[in-house]
Amino acid sequence: MNRIDTQTLHPNAQGIAAAVAVLGRGGLVGFPTETVYGLGGDARNGRAVAQIFAAKGRPSFNPLIVHVPDLEAARRFAQFDDTALQLAAAFWPAALTLVLPLVTGHGLSPLVTAGLETVAIRVPAHPLAQQILRAFDGPVAAPSANLSGRISPTKAAHVLADLSGIIDAVVDGGGCPVGLESTIIGGEPPALLRPGGIAVEQIEAIIGPLAKRANQITAPGQLASHYAPDASVRLNANQAHPGEVLLGFGPMQSDLNLSVSGDLIEAAAHLFDHLHRLNALGQPIAVAPIPDKGLGRAINDRLRRAAAPR
Ligand code: TXA
Ligand code: MG
Repeated sequence: MNRIDTQTLHPNAQGIAAAVAVLGRGGLVGFPTETVYGLGGDARNGRAVAQIFAAKGRPSFNPLIVHVPDLEAARRFAQFDDTALQLAAAFWPAALTLVLPLVTGHGLSPLVTAGLETVAIRVPAHPLAQQILRAFDGPVAAPSANLSGRISPTKAAHVLADLSGIIDAVVDGGGCPVGLESTIIGGEPPALLRPGGIAVEQIEAIIGPLAKRANQITAPGQLASHYAPDASVRLNANQAHPGEVLLGFGPMQSDLNLSVSGDLIEAAAHLFDHLHRLNALGQPIAVAPIPDKGLGRAINDRLRRAAAPR
């Protein structure tokens, strides 16, 4: 692929206009959401969507999330039943993605849905994402803005480290407040397809217990090895072995700590940035135990995949 000059855009009216212009001409732009940075392209434009897969080096059977500014826009693409409407009303805009049946005449590139009859759709809350989506006035396909299988980006610098020279631009909106990808709910009855930035307990409080899903890979975040640093990762470590760096949680001696006070929300926001930093040291990474409740479930899900044999 020819290297291109990737522009860093400011989080102001000019930067947003430039990002929208990139989307309009079928280009790719990295932009902040409250979860992680997305790599956006026009979801109706097959060439743009194909370029997302090429830029990430992503296996092409993985469908992408379509981002829209509100429920009204979402309904142009997806059929909402009562449960979906309840979830949208309770959470959107938020770190929640719904997998729903496509409406006829949706106009999305079949590459976005990998030819499925369903679409994953999300209304992000981040003000810059909102402004870009409103100004673009069209559906934006956006996976996380990292090379396939690598640590997700929560800063513009992470996006540039993987994709500089490959994508047109990135809007620098600073750190992502949630720091974990969206929770994905889909199927009939609704099941958890990926734990993420909205805790399962919160969702079950609205719609009752989620179904157990068949064990099939429908999301790349569900591949065993994912979010992988270069070095090996060892979980549930109370201390570092010689040569290891330690990612701590709660009050303890460590090289970096996800949350000294043991706050899972703070830990989620730090997770990928701390993995990026420890990865740069080039040593094996040991990770302290994280409680498996609330956002801890999504954190442990990402850590298990980072630690999986590859
Ligand atoms: O927080 C997020 O969700 C971020 C930001 C950028 O919005 N995006 C993100 O996208 O994590 P990505 O592409 O890394 O993950 C999308 C997930 C994949 O695991 C994919 O397989 C699943 O959504 N997905 C998309 N369409 C689907 C469908 N029709 N059925 C089941 N899973 C689907
Ligand atoms: Mg990803």
